[in-house]
Amino acid sequence: MKRLSKPWLFALLFVLVAGALIWIGTGQKPSEQGAGDTVNPIEQQQPEEKEPDTEGAPVEQEGNKIAIPQAIVTTFKGDPRTSRAFTWHTDTTGEKAVLQLVKGTDASAFEDKREILEFQGESSELVLHNGKIKGVHKAEAAGLEAGASYLYRVGNGSAEGWSELAAFTTEQDGLDAFTFIDVADSQGITEQDFELWRNTLEQAFKRFPESAFLIHNGDLTEYPEDDAAWNHLLNKARPWTASVPFMPVTGNHDQVDKKADAFVSHFNLPDNGASSTIPGTSYTFNYGPVHFVMLNTEAKIKEQVDWLEEDLAANRQPWTIVSIHRPAYGGNQDKKVVKHWVPLFDKYGVDLVLQGHNHEYSRSYPLKDEKIVETGGTVYATVNASGQKFNKKKDDQYYHKIHFQNKKQMYAGIRIAGDKLTYQAYTVDGELADEFELTHK
Ligand SMILES: [Fe+2]
Repeated sequence: MKRLSKPWLFALLFVLVAGALIWIGTGQKPSEQGAGDTVNPIEQQQPEEKEPDTEGAPVEQEGNKIAIPQAIVTTFKGDPRTSRAFTWHTDTTGEKAVLQLVKGTDASAFEDKREILEFQGESSELVLHNGKIKGVHKAEAAGLEAGASYLYRVGNGSAEGWSELAAFTTEQDGLDAFTFIDVADSQGITEQDFELWRNTLEQAFKRFPESAFLIHNGDLTEYPEDDAAWNHLLNKARPWTASVPFMPVTGNHDQVDKKADAFVSHFNLPDNGASSTIPGTSYTFNYGPVHFVMLNTEAKIKEQVDWLEEDLAANRQPWTIVSIHRPAYGGNQDKKVVKHWVPLFDKYGVDLVLQGHNHEYSRSYPLKDEKIVETGGTVYATVNASGQKFNKKKDDQYYHKIHFQNKKQMYAGIRIAGDKLTYQAYTVDGELADEFELTHK
């Protein structure tokens, strides 16, 4: 057999090494490349599932799976003056849900067991569309002092299972002035989509650092089954929503086919909603002088009427703000919402309705009985998306005071101080795009 000359040997070696490098780089066996696996439509539209974004979480040790708290979020559930609720997920199941607090801002207090307030929560499971099972953990601290600061951590109770520490402050007694932020339609798929959402929150909290909580008018992710998207949504929001409650409304991308499992699994919300809706998809809470009503536009709109009327009739707060996903008066109108809920908004003098779904900006004149009124009407505002998707501007309507599509992520800062409400809507690049005031006489 003829021996190969030296140049031929080098060429052969080069081809072998290059082939090996390409094979390692793709991370696939050659037989897997181009495989025509059948996938369901949801999987087809989704990007390849990535590892969860675990910003702010302890690092998982290889081969030593621990219950890393992911997607940690704080909410109001009971009285915001004396309680605070938390939710987190883990890749492991069968873990305990433990919440520990210390009063003040000194982390070394966790070294003294006598200083620690411990609350046992509840754990359940969420089955993902790919068959994976996540641990869902919810806990609530009660008996807290009003207007006090606390540090907290969540975990399974084992030394290595704790989240990083974060701080929160309870509502003061007799509070008559505060600010909150309103956003809508983060509705992302990829990590890059949620980078836009993160930037929206960063700009919002820079502009309104005193904000007591965040309201989201629905459509949090594109596909509620997409667990990676929920992790991006909540982990990217964590610098703010580890401390400031995140109060969401259910949209048509959150409740699909009468199911809202993922949405409900991520938030520990007031248990006072309409019995016709999935628990956690309609609820109310009070903060300062305001009564907040969060309604579910995705099912049983008519069936929520009795509960809504009973709630509004019993309300003694000077201000009432409603948050819904599909608008009554936005770029378009949801006919059922207009028919069943607007008469109650009129009857009980709802001041402001925060809406989503349109992915454009609109704000109505004050309205009552479907007419523009000088005093005493309800204003309907739809903030532009906080994420990647913008829709074509819809036709102007008689009720529009302002209506535009600027294709920029937006947020609104809303301040209530005594008898005055100030609403300011900004773009992420700092432009004040709309503002108005409401006053109570
Ligand atoms: Fe929507």
